[in-house]
Amino acid sequence: SKGNHRHYMLKEIYEQPVVVAQTLRSYLRRMEDQVSLPVPDFDLSAIRRVTIVACGTSFYAGMVAKYWFEQFARVPADIDVASEFRYRAPVMEDGGLMIVISQSGETADTLAALRHARAEGQKIAAVVNVPTSSMAREADLLLPTHAGPEIGVASTKAFTCQLAVLAAFAANLARAKGRLDEKAEKELVRHLAEAPAALNAALAYDESIEAMAHLIAGARDVLYLGRGPDYPLALEGALKLKEISYIHAEGYAAGEMKHGPIALIDESVPVIVLAPSGPLFEKTVSNMQEVQARGGKVVLISDYDGVAAAGEGCIATITMPKVHPLIAPMVYAVPVQLLAYHVAVAKGTDVDQPRNLAKSVTVE
Ligand code: M6R
Repeated sequence: SKGNHRHYMLKEIYEQPVVVAQTLRSYLRRMEDQVSLPVPDFDLSAIRRVTIVACGTSFYAGMVAKYWFEQFARVPADIDVASEFRYRAPVMEDGGLMIVISQSGETADTLAALRHARAEGQKIAAVVNVPTSSMAREADLLLPTHAGPEIGVASTKAFTCQLAVLAAFAANLARAKGRLDEKAEKELVRHLAEAPAALNAALAYDESIEAMAHLIAGARDVLYLGRGPDYPLALEGALKLKEISYIHAEGYAAGEMKHGPIALIDESVPVIVLAPSGPLFEKTVSNMQEVQARGGKVVLISDYDGVAAAGEGCIATITMPKVHPLIAPMVYAVPVQLLAYHVAVAKGTDVDQPRNLAKSVTVE
């Protein structure tokens, strides 16, 4: 049931601290501060390349994970949308691992990609939320998310749980490849373990996000900008807004703005900038200032330091807790979900059952 919540989507957004904690519990051993994953029946240390395949929001979780596989495990990581992967001629060599990511475990394109890769001799890991699904059954290594049933067509809690699993898996692969010493593993686990509390703190901004929904609800087009692991969050924010509020939205890598899309900027196009403090902050802010210099109306989502440093001149700011860059993509999912939700409610759309969409896409 929806409990006290008006929509399943809102209920599921609010469940995130609990379900992410639940998911992390099965992948982290907190006493030793170690990651602990099911042991596959193939040799993880022999994996030489990772190919991630998924659709929609699950694809964006995979995009974030690509950064982690490269950064922690130093393993080349490709990512593709399933409907593209399946119909090109991807090179699949020995030592390749395909990771499929899917809430339902039944998405037809992702399942077809899995079967194709398996026929080409790839090992298969599946990050799925439905443990009885086809993908769960057909994988060599099952890595379940413990998000519980997700009813809203817009995926929310499945996404943050996918990120939790993928971060632990990237750490696990890094360890298997001898790229993660004990100290680094401990640190990584500690940062991950901070996610549930940080998600809770992010939810505390619900009312202030609701109060600014009118700034977006009247727009025809909205842009989302982010960099590095927060670039996929810009794509996810735009997808959420499109699918439930029917407002046209695009996500861009902040550095790409000046290569074209900045031509769209005027005072009628709100620009949502995702810029947590960290190594990429300054660069993202300079892209944001390029937008502002052309009359763009910016909503900055950052932490207290980021908002203090760059919030001036924005039409609104959303202040997130200050978190380690590893968990920023999980935490910053909350404001983009809430923003899309409140804009949709303000527009009076059917939030849980948006037009033209199905929860699970079982045709190719
Ligand atoms: O069940 P899956 O994770 O495989 O579904 C993939 C997409 O269909 C799904 O994420 C879709 O994009 C959502 N409606 C996004 O909110």
